[in-house]
Amino acid sequence: MTEVQNVRRTDSVALVSENACADWRRGVMYQLFPRSFADGNGDGVGDLMGLLARLPYLQELGIDVVWLSPWFVSPMADGGYDVADFYDIDPTFGTLDDADALINECHSLGLKVMIDLVANHCSSEHPWFMQALKSQPGSPEREKFYFRDGRGEDGSEPPTDWVSVFGGPAWTRASNSDGTPGQWYLHLFSQAQPDLNWTNEVVRELFDDIIRYWFDRGVDGFRLDAVPAIGKDADFQDSGCDQSSQFSPETSPQTRYWDSGDVHEIVRRWRRIAETYSPPKYLIGEINVSTTQALLRYIRPGELQSVFAMNLVRSPWRATDFRSRITGNLNFASNGESWPTWVLSSHDEVRTVTRLGERADGSIDTVIGTRRARSALLITMALPGGACLYQGEELGLPQVLDLPRDLLEDPIVARTGNPAKGRDGCRVALPWDTSSPSFGFSTGSPRLPQPHSWGSLSVASQESDGSSFLNFTRALLQRRREYIQQQPEEIVWVELGEEVFAFDRGDIRCIANFGPEPVALPQNSLVIVSSEELFLGTLPTDVAVWVRR
Ligand code: GLC
Repeated sequence: MTEVQNVRRTDSVALVSENACADWRRGVMYQLFPRSFADGNGDGVGDLMGLLARLPYLQELGIDVVWLSPWFVSPMADGGYDVADFYDIDPTFGTLDDADALINECHSLGLKVMIDLVANHCSSEHPWFMQALKSQPGSPEREKFYFRDGRGEDGSEPPTDWVSVFGGPAWTRASNSDGTPGQWYLHLFSQAQPDLNWTNEVVRELFDDIIRYWFDRGVDGFRLDAVPAIGKDADFQDSGCDQSSQFSPETSPQTRYWDSGDVHEIVRRWRRIAETYSPPKYLIGEINVSTTQALLRYIRPGELQSVFAMNLVRSPWRATDFRSRITGNLNFASNGESWPTWVLSSHDEVRTVTRLGERADGSIDTVIGTRRARSALLITMALPGGACLYQGEELGLPQVLDLPRDLLEDPIVARTGNPAKGRDGCRVALPWDTSSPSFGFSTGSPRLPQPHSWGSLSVASQESDGSSFLNFTRALLQRRREYIQQQPEEIVWVELGEEVFAFDRGDIRCIANFGPEPVALPQNSLVIVSSEELFLGTLPTDVAVWVRR
């Protein structure tokens, strides 16, 4: 007889984070984009007081770590990833006192706090860069950056053929103090983000101090932004770049300006600082590289504790692709000292519901997208290692695809001329309830308009719906604590046909049906959690489940 029990979703609403001491290795982190999470002062921009008021929501969700995208002083030319003062909070977000209050409150709720460390570059409005512009070629101020003479007789050609990740040349020509054209400076992202010269010991020491400053303030870890960008070959040779394309770290051929130089020495230096604290502070890297081997180098002993496993983000919706991508990343889960942190969504990616709902003709079916997003989340939450949720993922929010062009701020739009490449659509303010003017996000108006339909996706609406995405996520995180975290880290693949994804982890089996036909669940198995309601002991299309064998 098949023992299949439907999971009652309503029993999971009042979850409390039992594990006060979050475990980085097994825990779930929640990524916040501070501008669009919650606004406390009514100016239409999210801030730390707004976040503070919403911490009970995050605790109830069952997460372990709060990760904030940059909160530093910034002109916001790249959503805060252009830092003008690494020691202070942007006034639109609050003050250092607010940051201290937030850190303390997180800790008292048993949540760890992680912030972004943007080390490859700073803002073109950072005093370091403004001083460099005013200083002579070869001066110590310029040596904090990569200033080079241009090529050609009048120096009007960029020093190399390198293209930026955001499109266009990776060099911009600066002006001399008398207004005449001067040297060029390197920026692997936008021209408002000059790259720092990490071959310069002065830069390394400046960052040692920044890192200690935040650790001493109580921050538990750093998400290290764009780490491979720091590694450049010192000889500045051409890389054969196609000037009409963006540099893509995942797909472009190996270049001399990415994941090269002595980036690993710098990572080890940061780890040594983290290890001077008790307990050691935590470092997880955003390592966009094209091979698993290159990724693995960053989690060797003495380097990072974890790296984001990003390769499910762009996976086709096929069981075989999910399996091969997971296998690649799990190779390093076994070295005992480091682990992958699984990601389906972030402030840089098209939201999962939209991505997985895309039909062959490019139109979007959010119903299918939502089923698949739930299924994919259930898969990743069963995997060994950490997991990351991006704000609104727990609500099943779709990408906002129809934002007015004049509101798009992502520098990728301006640099490529292509609005479809912009990331603003995953950074729209969260809907908290059904009220005007902004679904409880703010008493003012958010910068980016929220779709009218978002009231029904709001936290308040979903709380009262037992089968909502929110209540599914809460149940999933609770079952992860109860059943998954105790299991061994090894997974054993189970063959159930080409279109069925299945593995065992201890006595838990995770099964996902990627095919068109329903699949029978194993005999005598007990359903722990499923991505949709199950009937008659079968797993329908695009549904996943954990069963106890
Ligand atoms: C990382 C961030 C992204 C940012 C870029 C430059 O990839 O995730 O948002 O634009 O670095 O700092």
